[in-house]
Amino acid sequence: MECQIKNICCIGAGYVGGPTMAVIAQKCPHIQVNVVDINRERIRNWNEKDLERLPIYEPGLKKIIEECRGENLHFSNEVEKNIETADMIFISVNTPTKKKGIGAGQASDLKWIEASARKIAEYANGKTIVVEKSTLPVKTAEVIKNILEFSNVDQTKYKTQSKSFTVLSNPEFLSEGTAIKDLENPDRVLIGGDNEESIKALVNIYLNWVDETKILTTDLWSSELSKLTANAFLAQRISSINSISALCESTGADINDVATAIGADKRIGSHFLQSGPGFGGSCFKKDILNLIYICNHYGLNHVSSYWIQVLEINNWQKKRISNIVVNKLFGTISGKKIAVLGFAFKANTNDTRESAAIDICKDLIEEGANLNIYDPKVSLSQIENDLFTLKTNNQINYPIESTVTICKLIIEAIKDSDAIIVLTEWEEFKHLNWEEISSLMRKPSWLFDTRSICDLKKAKSYGINVWRVGMDNEKN
Ligand code: UDX
Ligand code: ADP
Repeated sequence: MECQIKNICCIGAGYVGGPTMAVIAQKCPHIQVNVVDINRERIRNWNEKDLERLPIYEPGLKKIIEECRGENLHFSNEVEKNIETADMIFISVNTPTKKKGIGAGQASDLKWIEASARKIAEYANGKTIVVEKSTLPVKTAEVIKNILEFSNVDQTKYKTQSKSFTVLSNPEFLSEGTAIKDLENPDRVLIGGDNEESIKALVNIYLNWVDETKILTTDLWSSELSKLTANAFLAQRISSINSISALCESTGADINDVATAIGADKRIGSHFLQSGPGFGGSCFKKDILNLIYICNHYGLNHVSSYWIQVLEINNWQKKRISNIVVNKLFGTISGKKIAVLGFAFKANTNDTRESAAIDICKDLIEEGANLNIYDPKVSLSQIENDLFTLKTNNQINYPIESTVTICKLIIEAIKDSDAIIVLTEWEEFKHLNWEEISSLMRKPSWLFDTRSICDLKKAKSYGINVWRVGMDNEKN
């Protein structure tokens, strides 16, 4: 008999769980979707009347929340209760890189996955399909299966209620900032598993809005590995183009022309060739580290060295940019004021995880600069938190309180600054009023455009010195 899903529970109301469940609820009005989280503040924010205060900023998300919340989409802290009533449970908890112990610095910390699996083992009833959604190292499904089968729960209860579990892998390919579009119109949906009936149940959910030809089914491990590999390939393209940006700066070619020229080759394609300050986000670095860890585990050291280079170029690009700022400002930025425009790891998100801005700000602070930071969507407390974490981790020795000002307006950030550094490609930075800006800055003033989005000609015409990633900055 075909399994009809009526009640979904998603553990983890974060950047993946929140938007994914919102879209499932919208496309499947016949399914009740309960998103649960142990974080009380997060759930309170998801239930906020004022939709401007949702915990996640994603274009298109507010509209769906308005439409579905309280109808078939619910956010709560009642983890156990919602596990009990679910036919299908998505695990969307965080899986950061381990800080201590075996695999520290490379392997993912699965403690939140494990805690979720134990809760499911204890509270689920009847036949339950468990879907791993979080980005996971390969073979995590195996860990989840083990916990579900052998967890320390009352086995008699287990038998009388005939609990049974199947585990599927359904990796998320959504990209922050375009999450809703990516979910509504995915390039593909990947489902890995070894139980036909459960796979069919999940396929049926997606068939409510995704064309059958886009739904790929594989075994569990191929699905998990595909997710890591997709992110590693995307990150590799960015490191490749960033490595060539440095060559362009030294030789007089223009990285944007090179990217257009190579991207016109259908075999290469034009996406993910934008040179910038280095990739950030919660996935790329973590997934490559997982890949490196797995390769080393299987003795594939040449393969791991290959992927290590992708991360090294990324770190080098960030460092290279901080050094350029210092060199251009006569070798010292001590006591100088620098306006940092953009702190999110890319535009259209309020997420700062692994943002290049964190490392670049750290370098500039250590060189003694005073930073005025402005980002249109990242909260003041998030920026403070990211920079204070550097201090608590002893990654920085400078008094952040007296050197960093977080500004609500661009003008506030720019006033009396010696330099502007654009780190996130927010739309508003493409249309800055250079006449007004030049009148507010100290002379000689500098603009460092790490995203190639500013009108450099205009800025120059008002006497501002400019530097842009991937061009001969001496000649132009
Ligand atoms: C990524 C993957 O794209 C997505 O499929 C996966 O599910 C999660 O990880 P995300 O981290 O949201 O998504 O952002 P993405 O758009 O991939 O950008 C990652 C980083 O690369 C950003 O810092 C971005 O600025 C940078 N980037 C991207 C570039 O520097 N150049 C580009 O051409 C593209
Ligand atoms: P992602 O980008 O993968 O969605 P986030 O950090 O944004 O990651 O979200 C993960 C969410 O999972 C967090 O809100 C966190 O509180 C939640 N979480 C972690 N462990 C558990 C758990 N055992 N039960 C419920 N929620 C959890």
